[in-house]
Amino acid sequence: MTQILDGRTLARTCNKAVKVKVESLARPPGLAVVMVGNDPASAVYVKRKGVVADRLGFVHRQIDLPADTSQAKVEEVVRSLNDDDAIDGILVQLPLPKGLDSAAVVDCVSPDKDVDGLTIRSIGYLAQGRQLLAPCTPWGVMKLLALADVNLSGKSAVVIGRSNMVGRPMAMLLEQANCTVTVCHSRTTNLEEVVRRSDVVVAAIGQPKVVQGSWIKPGALVIDVGINRLDDGSLCGDVDTEAASVNAAAITPVPGGVGPMTIAMLMENTYKASCARQGVSAG
Ligand code: GUN
Repeated sequence: MTQILDGRTLARTCNKAVKVKVESLARPPGLAVVMVGNDPASAVYVKRKGVVADRLGFVHRQIDLPADTSQAKVEEVVRSLNDDDAIDGILVQLPLPKGLDSAAVVDCVSPDKDVDGLTIRSIGYLAQGRQLLAPCTPWGVMKLLALADVNLSGKSAVVIGRSNMVGRPMAMLLEQANCTVTVCHSRTTNLEEVVRRSDVVVAAIGQPKVVQGSWIKPGALVIDVGINRLDDGSLCGDVDTEAASVNAAAITPVPGGVGPMTIAMLMENTYKASCARQGVSAG
């Protein structure tokens, strides 16, 4: 039987734990989400983040800026949130509209409030295995992998995708869990061969069903970060889930796998950042 790594249930458990801990803080954690433009997918994600933040008793602020906002203005908004004492965590929803320099905007976020874990400082700490606040999606994937109750040490892992938000930090976290990690990307010529020999597969390349079921090694753990909308409006991941389930020991569904965990880890990071700023232990 293939284990379904149910992100919805795990996220609910993580969120409940944070909610209980928030009640004993002197003031609620504050999360600000900056959304520039009106990309429909981003709008859905941002709304979900707000709903969960409200449910956990956080102070939640969403700053909507028009798509033609200047670089200087976006940076000024982020800096004003850095100076806002009620805000512990800042997330700039990516991608930003064309013409804006995302890296420069992200680097305006105060490292203490970098609940997305994407600033140079956060990634530098992560690279050294001293992470403060880890990027939400890779950190959520590590928690999903823990559900499978498999010792990752010595396992071969493939990360498909090399984005700053997912692929790169994901490879670092798996390496820190003592996996031997291969990173594949759009120019990799032997993806099938690498997947076939991998005990852990994390697909985060944003291409529907690029990982075929027959490639999955018997007993592998398969994590699908992709969420792609097909022409008929349906959603699918980067893995052919049904076919991959034949060989996989455990697999994430799409939707209901990684997505809810990304949000749960954002809440956990915001709670941790708030504890640090309030001078109390995160417990
Ligand atoms: N866009 C899609 N996922 C994310 C995320 O986790 N963080 C940010 N900042 N933007 C995203």
